[in-house]
Amino acid sequence: MSINQENTLAQPVGITLERYIMRAQAEFPFATGELSQLLRDLALAGKIVHRDVNRAGLADITGGLGTQNVQGEQQKRLDMEAHIRFVRALKNGREACAILSEEEAEIIHIDNDSGNYVVAMDPLDGSSNIDVNVSIGTLFSIYRRVTPVGTKATAADFLQGGRRQVAAGYILYGSSTMFVYTTGHGVMGFTYEQSLGEFFLSHPDIRIPQDGRIFSCNEGYWFDYPESIRTFLMDCKRKEYSGRYIGSLVADYHRNLFNGGIYLYPPTSKNPRGKLRLLYECYPLAMLIEQAGGQAVVSANEPILDVAPTELHQRTPIFIGSTEMVRTLFSAESVLASASELEATS
Ligand code: AHG
Ligand code: MN
Ligand code: MN
Repeated sequence: MSINQENTLAQPVGITLERYIMRAQAEFPFATGELSQLLRDLALAGKIVHRDVNRAGLADITGGLGTQNVQGEQQKRLDMEAHIRFVRALKNGREACAILSEEEAEIIHIDNDSGNYVVAMDPLDGSSNIDVNVSIGTLFSIYRRVTPVGTKATAADFLQGGRRQVAAGYILYGSSTMFVYTTGHGVMGFTYEQSLGEFFLSHPDIRIPQDGRIFSCNEGYWFDYPESIRTFLMDCKRKEYSGRYIGSLVADYHRNLFNGGIYLYPPTSKNPRGKLRLLYECYPLAMLIEQAGGQAVVSANEPILDVAPTELHQRTPIFIGSTEMVRTLFSAESVLASASELEATS
């Protein structure tokens, strides 16, 4: 093997996440290494959460805490456990100056105002699956701060908009644990090798199939869905596409990313603005999907990444996945079909 081949970033086997991040950093002569270190801190916390998740059931860490988060949702022990792990890792790392977590209403200042970055995160996604051994995940989104270094970070640092993310990713605790991230130069997937304690590059330059045959949504809300969405879903059923819904966003997204498909969380009467959180669920997945060649939109022509944020814990509808399926969902045909169906049933 030539030295050039040896140096290529896309080598599929034998490259640890640490080494990959260092090599990627070397491609940018002015990089300071802070973002690289931040990604390594997240991976370290991910390993600890992997361990915790895999012990769940043995150690006394499952079940509810009897508390609610800022959005009035029940907190599970592992939700808070993961939150604490990530906050601690970022605090010790000293590259970030503040964190926004699903589990806390306010911005968390981590006693490092000289840090250049802020991190928005969902420490553990898929709460309803935590206690029943089904895949769950962590989502993160990273910005360079806009407030002056040396001052306290503010909401402005987190409300920059999805296009300003410098990196985004997730950790999936599934049949294997994976770290998937982008810094805007493609999507890289790393699989955790537990016996070595390392993530290894296993999925270089991930691309989502342009079209797919999987639809993922909670069909329990069927009668709440807008008519055009129901029309699209009926069309999927007529074509005998597969309905697949785990109920952990990260896991549903990950499957569709590899197999091709669409994930939908439309507005419902319970959640008229959608359920999923813009800053730490939808922005990171939208950045990843665009980098992987797919689409994430909030309505026909509005990419999630262009939605201007106004609140830290803002919710949004989301339609995300293979480009062709997202296009079909919002195509004139689906709207027309929905209109004629309405006529037929009235
Ligand atoms: P979280 O566990 O972080 O609160 O997120 C749960 C989210 C998401 O993971 C999942 O896709 C969705 O809620 C499921 O909602 P429904 O139960 O309404 O389908
Ligand atoms: Mn979540
Ligand atoms: Mn969560």
